[in-house]
Amino acid sequence: MCGIVGYIGRRPAVPILVKGLKKLEYRGYDSAGVAVLDEEDGLFACKSVGKLAALEEKLGDDYARTSVGIGHTRWATHGRPSDLNAHPHQDCTGEFAVVHNGIIENYLELRDWLSEQGHRLISETDTEVLPHLVEHFYAGDLAAAVRQVLTKIRGAFALVVLSRKDPDRLVAARKDSPLVVGLGDGEFFVASDIPAVLDYTRKTYILADGEMAVVSVNGVKITDFQGNPREKEVFEVKWDAVAAEKGGYEHFMLKEIHEQPRALKDTLLGRLTDYGVELQEVDLTAAEVNQFHKVYIVACGTASHAGLVGKNLIERWARMPVEVDIASEFRYRRPLIDEHTLVVVISQSGETADTLAALREAHRLGARVVAVTNVVGSSVAREADDVIYTWAGPEIAVASTKAYTTQLLGMVLLGLYLAEAKGTMPAEKSQALIAAVRELPRQAQEVLDQQEVIKKLAQSFIAVEDTFFIGRGLDWAVAMEGALKLKEISYIHAEAYAAGELKHGTLALITEETPVIGLATQRGVYEKTISNIKEVKARDAKVIGLTFAGNKDMHKSVDQVVYLPETLDELAPILTVIPLQLLAYYVSVARGCDVDKPRNLAKSVTVE
Ligand code: F6R
Repeated sequence: MCGIVGYIGRRPAVPILVKGLKKLEYRGYDSAGVAVLDEEDGLFACKSVGKLAALEEKLGDDYARTSVGIGHTRWATHGRPSDLNAHPHQDCTGEFAVVHNGIIENYLELRDWLSEQGHRLISETDTEVLPHLVEHFYAGDLAAAVRQVLTKIRGAFALVVLSRKDPDRLVAARKDSPLVVGLGDGEFFVASDIPAVLDYTRKTYILADGEMAVVSVNGVKITDFQGNPREKEVFEVKWDAVAAEKGGYEHFMLKEIHEQPRALKDTLLGRLTDYGVELQEVDLTAAEVNQFHKVYIVACGTASHAGLVGKNLIERWARMPVEVDIASEFRYRRPLIDEHTLVVVISQSGETADTLAALREAHRLGARVVAVTNVVGSSVAREADDVIYTWAGPEIAVASTKAYTTQLLGMVLLGLYLAEAKGTMPAEKSQALIAAVRELPRQAQEVLDQQEVIKKLAQSFIAVEDTFFIGRGLDWAVAMEGALKLKEISYIHAEAYAAGELKHGTLALITEETPVIGLATQRGVYEKTISNIKEVKARDAKVIGLTFAGNKDMHKSVDQVVYLPETLDELAPILTVIPLQLLAYYVSVARGCDVDKPRNLAKSVTVE
């Protein structure tokens, strides 16, 4: 999510760090900072909230002499954007500085422990525990101290440590968050993404999970977290700078589709126990949950489709009545809301004007508001009473993909949380659900591995003018998202329909010219959905079916099937939508559309 750069060599470090950070700004930014070592003056950190230009102004020419340093551009996770929360973070002595991407899951525990040891932590971030821990364990060898720290922390991280005590090295480590080492001539770079080093070198080591790098002007030593040496092959980057920003993918949308296993994993970090969920950010007691008479979910576009899934889950699991409303309608409807209503607003950007207005209207009417959002410090996050963050990372393509699947996960977590508070879910059911949720990131990757199948399917949509997505229950909710994706980036008219409702009018539109995508993951209504699919087949429509791998008979009823890994019905939407995102993407590419910036649309809609 954030951007990391480190440099050690013979040239002035600061311009190299700042230039590297600029190359990472596309990942999102709300603050930035650098820490550098100077033989005379020691370790200095300079940080600033806002864009990099603000940091540059603050830096001036003061640090021209340094040739080792680390830098960071931050996309806030724990703690709002501010100078204090910006990286690098330092320990009390000011001798150690750390930049970090990811989430330290057990940071609250570690904070308490460090405070007991006499450390004073001053920011709201999870990262700040790291320099304090390094200082605590330091006994003459920086790499050894970092190795000790790695045994104490849980979560996802890419981190780089700089210390005045070991001024001739940077120590970096990676688990579940990318990190590369750029190999120059007598100079070396560490970065979260390749674009940051491309101006200097094309030779890199891509660190794998569980690897550390000790980087000095004399070279790079790669080990595992126990200090055992690892052999590493040099990876020569062939992409140009623009392609590198997209991680080698042709478009941001495809990159973001592929980031979903990671985004799902991050969104789950620290939130699952063996028996239920832990939502530290939601401060509702069971008594408070029990006094809500109903839940209102309000959002726009893709986020409102996540809300439809949320309605189904909360009603099923917590037995609370749920209404879903589009924010632009909600605010003028005079909704029936009072202090016994829990309003859930969902917004990737946290800045959508209608969603924000709906949140304010809900507050005015006395409701408690929980936000599900992807942007820390956004207006929605600031104004809601409680926030469940989706850790999707910055989404750049206009068409939402990884934000949607993490919103779905947000709905799963909230549904489980409410069910727990209401006591409506048997322990075996929640255990089964938690076990199945843990599998989702891996299963999402399995779906992505079928990319080539979808790419081929997309070719048959090049000349299509109308298409239908049909399904029942949760499949219907996902059908709406599939239809929206196709419409917005390929400009094909697509409509989502409840499969059982087709014959009440819409079936008249089905011909051999209108392909149908039939979603059939919901076991309770599988046979009925297949019957509806047969109804469209009988009108000569070409049908692509999506179902679980176990439903081997589906191929008899459709022209082509995409099989999904088995999960519980309730969790299916998180997997089912991925082939639909890929389909929309490849159809858009095949039709020569502007995938990342479709006509007439903007990423964040801040007007009514
Ligand atoms: C479609 C899409 C939009 C957004 C909608 C709400 O792919 O991205 O429909 O979901 O504009 O935006 P947020 O979630 O930022 O409030």
